[in-house]
Amino acid sequence: MPKMIFIANWKMNLGLKETVILIKQLLGGLKKIKNNLEIVICPSFTVLSEASKLLKKGNIKLGSQDVFWEEKGAYTGNISPKMLKEIGCEYVIIGHSERRQYLGETDEMAHQKIKAAIKEGLIPILCVGETFEERQEGQKDYIIIKQVTKALEGISLSRGQKIIIAYEPVWVIGSGQAVKPEEAEYTNQIIKQSLIDLYPRDIVEQNFRIIYGGSVDSSVIKSFVERSVIDGVLVGGASLKTKDFIKMINKIHPVK
Ligand code: 13P
Repeated sequence: MPKMIFIANWKMNLGLKETVILIKQLLGGLKKIKNNLEIVICPSFTVLSEASKLLKKGNIKLGSQDVFWEEKGAYTGNISPKMLKEIGCEYVIIGHSERRQYLGETDEMAHQKIKAAIKEGLIPILCVGETFEERQEGQKDYIIIKQVTKALEGISLSRGQKIIIAYEPVWVIGSGQAVKPEEAEYTNQIIKQSLIDLYPRDIVEQNFRIIYGGSVDSSVIKSFVERSVIDGVLVGGASLKTKDFIKMINKIHPVK
């Protein structure tokens, strides 16, 4: 059984001072985390370096919210996988719906980014999910299969290369109302099937974790991670305050 994972995506919410305070409080409050739960925080690019120094002491890992696919060169404003690795990132969020929505990111870009991240030894967290309109048109499952397949097709994976796929229904993000855990479980099963169509079964079992994100908070978190194909959560708003963050961890640790 894969290790459960809790990923906090702090989006564009915290500056340096606030990030430092939050990390210090989390390190203080989460000393007793055991091996069966992995915790990752994804702060803004500008604070990654400072976060990395602070996290050397504890059991929380570092991820970034995006990456570019080229190694170096004339790409103003972009950050390469090597740069992230250099400052201590282990994870990288790729294809988040907010980047798809506001910056026009496509499945092809997600594909390039995953390839580049893997080459540098980073663990990609690929986000997939349908918009409200796609759902109303009855396209949900098709969209999920397409996003997973286009992002991963043709990328070969070594036995040890980990990848995380996060199902994040776009219309639920930041709404305060998560989907029902059984629906997330059903969709994660669809994601798993898409992976089985791309990779040998043992690679799917060993390399991939499929998680859920979208209005997860301490009142619902347990009901998600108890489900069989939900290996963890990706949390936005509820991970910005120490008390809520620790409350969520306390609810799920250890449940499996
Ligand atoms: P919320 O938890 O605020 O809904 O955000 C989810 C998300 O987008 C995490 O990547």
